[in-house]
Amino acid sequence: MALRTAGSVLVVFLWSVTVVLGQDGWSVTYTPQSICALKWSTVDLTCSYTYPSGYTVTTTLWFTKWGTGVEPKDLGQDPEYAGRLVYNGDKKNDCTMTITDLRERDSATYKFRLLTDQEGGKYTGEPGVTLSVTGLQVKVTGGHQDKTLTCSTTCTLTDNPTYIWYKNGQHLDESTSPQYKDSVSSNYEDSYSCAVKGHENLHSPAVCVQGESCMNVTYTHQSICALKGSTVDISCFYTHHSWHNVAEVSWFNKWESGVTKDLSLNPEYADRVEYHRQTEKDSTLRITDLRESDSTEYKFRFTTDDARWGSSFPGTTLTVTGLQVKVTPAAEGQKTLTCITTCTLTDNPTYIWYKNGQRLDEPTSQQYSSNTLVVLGHSVDSYSCAVEHHEDLHSPAVYAPKNTSVSVSPSGEIVEGSSVTLTCSSDANPPVDKYTWYKKNVTSPKASGQSYIITNIISEDRGEYYCEA
Ligand SMILES: *[C@@H]1O[C@H](CO)[C@@H](O)[C@H](O)[C@H]1NC(C)=O
Ligand SMILES: *[C@@H]1O[C@H](CO)[C@@H](O)[C@H](O)[C@H]1NC(C)=O
Ligand SMILES: *[C@@H]1O[C@H](CO)[C@@H](O)[C@H](O)[C@H]1NC(C)=O
Repeated sequence: MALRTAGSVLVVFLWSVTVVLGQDGWSVTYTPQSICALKWSTVDLTCSYTYPSGYTVTTTLWFTKWGTGVEPKDLGQDPEYAGRLVYNGDKKNDCTMTITDLRERDSATYKFRLLTDQEGGKYTGEPGVTLSVTGLQVKVTGGHQDKTLTCSTTCTLTDNPTYIWYKNGQHLDESTSPQYKDSVSSNYEDSYSCAVKGHENLHSPAVCVQGESCMNVTYTHQSICALKGSTVDISCFYTHHSWHNVAEVSWFNKWESGVTKDLSLNPEYADRVEYHRQTEKDSTLRITDLRESDSTEYKFRFTTDDARWGSSFPGTTLTVTGLQVKVTPAAEGQKTLTCITTCTLTDNPTYIWYKNGQRLDEPTSQQYSSNTLVVLGHSVDSYSCAVEHHEDLHSPAVYAPKNTSVSVSPSGEIVEGSSVTLTCSSDANPPVDKYTWYKKNVTSPKASGQSYIITNIISEDRGEYYCEA
């Protein structure tokens, strides 16, 4: 246990781990028992357990609420935590759970419970782990010419964090104290923000040190997934002090030691980028004819006649994907076609399927608008997929082998004792992965592989050969 005084407030850190051994070998140990974590970050609730020999664990679960008379509800089934919980323990002694994308309302006491195959063989580990989730906020105190900034949290962050300070979106300084070391003079344009090292992307909102409005940039999306060949709009809103005029706005995707290059001057984007705006306070970067190589992070910068917005904060990450049909075996005699992308397309698109180049009918089933389609396994038809409004950007077609042919080398007369190579070729997508060679009137296959070499030919080898793709 450690005691520390901060001002007049006495802060007590409870760091000792209490191993509470229940009766007869039941125990659950939480290390640590209290955690303060940043909003949007990931936390591990580390936990281990024991139970008496002779029991078999049937169910393990974490919960935060427990009514009387009923079993507590497994958090793994709670829609609030859908996609954010991972039980990475086992059924033996590890009960560690990971929660991602933390929200403030995740603040609670989490307890682990195990059920076994025997009557009365149930146990809940007390006292649980108390999780507090905090955002970061810059607090401004002090007089007109001499302000103090504090990076404040609602709980005491674990692991003595290093604080990072930003002025107008530009990295300024780092310190182990949550207070900014210099007193800040009052420029009306200046905004300040803080972050914790290792979590720079979770920086606090910017605050003005003087007045109501100052420099700020907010991107509409953190990430966008768009189709190769399509057009994307990446946009943001920005503010500045009303006394000053905006001198320049630009978008960029390369920044080294504060030097950035406007995208419209980059030859890779020649004629493919445009800047648009709807009001005085927004900007949109439009990139047309997207390529996979456009996948990167894009940021916005602006300058007023008094100050410049920096490049330290995250912008919008763009991922460009093509469409592809993946074929997997389904139930007896069927195949499932899945229209796959390398990222999850923004805006939940409607998928469209084509059979032999013809668009399949209006959505008759839910399956139609989903990214999967079930077809007969022996189908000789070709299939491709697209998403609505981008019909021209459809995937390459998949089809069964066709146009299968055989070539013989050397060609012409073959003498006894020499050797000959038969090569099979066939057009298919996905490409043929198995060729089998047969001799006419012989039921069992002679060989497999794209080429079949017959060495030391004798007269019995005479006959008709064919391959199967
Ligand atoms: C900057 O934008 C963020 C996000 O919209 C907002 O939370 C914050 O208050 C803004 N700060 C200023 C100084 O305008
Ligand atoms: C089969 O291959 C020949 C020669 O390569 C080509 O001319 C023909 O169009 C192909 N047929 C089909 C159905 O792909
Ligand atoms: C295959 O068998 C059929 C009937 O048994 C016979 O007529 C034919 O000549 C045979 N062909 C070859 C290439 O041996």
